[in-house]
Amino acid sequence: MPESHLWGGTIRKMWLSEADKFRDHLLRLDRDSRRMRFGMAVSDAFIIDYASRLGEMKCLVYGFFVEGELRAAAEMRQIGDAWSADAEGAFSVEHDYQNRGVGTELLGRIIRAARNRGIQRLYMNCLAENHKMQRICRKYEAELLFDHGEVVGRVLPALPTYISLWEEAVDDTSGFVMAMIDLPVHSEPVA
Ligand SMILES: CC(C)(COP(=O)(O)OP(=O)(O)OC[C@H]1O[C@@H](n2cnc3c(N)ncnc32)[C@H](O)[C@@H]1OP(=O)(O)O)[C@@H](O)C(=O)NCCC(=O)NCCS
Repeated sequence: MPESHLWGGTIRKMWLSEADKFRDHLLRLDRDSRRMRFGMAVSDAFIIDYASRLGEMKCLVYGFFVEGELRAAAEMRQIGDAWSADAEGAFSVEHDYQNRGVGTELLGRIIRAARNRGIQRLYMNCLAENHKMQRICRKYEAELLFDHGEVVGRVLPALPTYISLWEEAVDDTSGFVMAMIDLPVHSEPVA
């Protein structure tokens, strides 16, 4: 859906200059959510290092912001040196914002972004016990592949259309206006 205002928050693409917000969001994840997000228990130092490499990771990140604070993020990372047929998605929603439809909405944004970049296979890795993530993957008719305690959700995005490109552009325009409210002028969007 083109509108980016949901549940009192805003979904928009993140900017390279927002690595600090990304880091603070990941640090706020409770222990279980952290483990689900990274597939293992991770320390604060790991998260600080991970978030500091946001610009190098060649990824596109959608954020869910409430009153300027990042409360959920969806990352789409390229596999290999450039955007190709395959990409990987990862999701994090802070505890108080879970089960409100935010993750579902973010996955929809990532699938549309994948589609508009000609990505043919979008993979989501999660632990086998992560039924919530599997539930939102199923909503988008993902194929779920179970393997040694992990589940890989595979979505095959459709070909881009003028409408899907237009919807992303409309989202970007409203997201840009929201970003300009609290960002320095010389910021670049991630990917
Ligand atoms: C997994 C995650 C991204 C989902 O985001 P969310 O905003 O909570 O998800 P939504 O509210 O959009 O949807 C959750 C769905 O799971 C369902 N659900 C909730 N608990 C469930 C459970 N224990 N088992 C199965 N389904 C469950 C909800 O009912 C909802 O489905 P519905 O819309 O059909 O009712 C979020 O919970 C999260 O960040 N968890 C920690 C990190 C993580 O697991 N990341 C994924 C691996 S990269």
